[in-house]
Amino acid sequence: MAGATQHAHWSSRWAFIMAAVGSAVGLGNIWKFPYEAGQGGGGAFVMVYLLFVFFIGTPMLVAELSLGRRGQLSPVGTMKKIAQEEKKSHWWGLIGWSGVVGAFIVISFYSVVGGWTLAYMVKAAMGSFSGIDAATAESTFVGYISDPVMTLVSHFAFMAITIFIVAKGVQGGLEKAVTVLMPALFAILIILVIYSGFTGDFAKTIDFLFNPDFNELLYKPNTPEAIAAGAPAQRFSFDMVLQALGQSFFSLSLALGSIMTYGSYLTKDVKIGRSAVTIAAADSSVALMAGLAIFPIVFAYGLDVAGGGGLVFMSLPIAFGQMPLGIVFGTLFFGLLAVAAITSSISLLEPPVSYVEEKTGWNRRKVAITMGVAAGVLGILSAYSQGTNMLADVRIFGLNIMDAKDFLTNNIMMPLAGLFTALFVGWFVTRKSMMEELAMEDKTFRIWYFLARFVSPTAIGIIFIKLIYDTIVG
Ligand code: TRP
Repeated sequence: MAGATQHAHWSSRWAFIMAAVGSAVGLGNIWKFPYEAGQGGGGAFVMVYLLFVFFIGTPMLVAELSLGRRGQLSPVGTMKKIAQEEKKSHWWGLIGWSGVVGAFIVISFYSVVGGWTLAYMVKAAMGSFSGIDAATAESTFVGYISDPVMTLVSHFAFMAITIFIVAKGVQGGLEKAVTVLMPALFAILIILVIYSGFTGDFAKTIDFLFNPDFNELLYKPNTPEAIAAGAPAQRFSFDMVLQALGQSFFSLSLALGSIMTYGSYLTKDVKIGRSAVTIAAADSSVALMAGLAIFPIVFAYGLDVAGGGGLVFMSLPIAFGQMPLGIVFGTLFFGLLAVAAITSSISLLEPPVSYVEEKTGWNRRKVAITMGVAAGVLGILSAYSQGTNMLADVRIFGLNIMDAKDFLTNNIMMPLAGLFTALFVGWFVTRKSMMEELAMEDKTFRIWYFLARFVSPTAIGIIFIKLIYDTIVG
């Protein structure tokens, strides 16, 4: 029954900030952001990304945190309760549903990549990268993701750690884990940036990340065939801008109920606006620092900046295998990635766990194990869809299983949930109740309200229409 057990709370603002930053900082920052920036031409992508983080992402963080805190329930319970209090349709509960189901789907494959980071940490520590060339690095990675036993072991090891933390509850598990792991993460990252700065090409990195060339962002090269047929070398494309918006949402953990659930553990004395700015600033700083740690190595060793998802798992090991103290720094790097992934995956298991806990009244341990194992089993499909593994040939609308789940959540469920969340707080909840919940200064509130009411829904609406258009037109 809803509300049958007392809803848990963070013990301090610090614990909450660490947990929220832990959720936000993840594979999205250290694995995805550098390769997307690399493919998006560097500085221009970074600038657009930062604009989205502060003008769209941060107001959405505020929206989700305030809804969560006001509801004091799981995302489903919270949305239904607030809709009822505001005398609006109970269909708004669907936003909560989309979060609970979406987070369950995302953790099922997030944990697979989390497992890769654990496996690579072990490989780095055993010195498996020493002296490898590009071909060996690639065959090592493809060999590993194609191995049905190894991928399963690492995926379930990662999931087991996540379950263990979530099972211990908000104060006993989440808080304890993040207040140790997040400072450790910052420390490792700083060490890696300094090391990269000394051994790699730092000047080129600064130029690449902070000297925007907007041409790179708005035009992409035509295919050789198109050029042969008389097309110009570049064509106008909005893709990178949309990718930057999607990445800002993913990186801030928006639109899947994670932040709403963390908001529900908040006490009334915490200032939501200020916290949201801190979280967004910490999240983008980590993304930029990950860039500062990775690109000097990429440039110094002549690796491909636009190497995509393989940048971290296939390119960096070549460099770790050659550089002084490569074993130490390689292990630290993949350890960093694993820590970042774990503090995010616990926030992905939270929405389904808080919902099932609320619905069944079972104790947290039982719910965490049940939901974690279920997501783990669903994740086997994703793990086996990689490389030449057992399900690699299965295609859903032309995508392998992992990419199909990613598409469904990232391109459909998240933009829709984000859009409706913005519409809900901007147009359906009364201005007065938002003002009361946020307790902001008048001017700050007005800025937030304008962004949440007009800017966010418009921007998200545009991405969504563009995605539908692309999917239909091909
Ligand atoms: N933000 C995390 C990352 O950057 C992933 C994540 C955790 C997430 N919880 C989420 C993404 C909720 C979207 C929604 O890796």
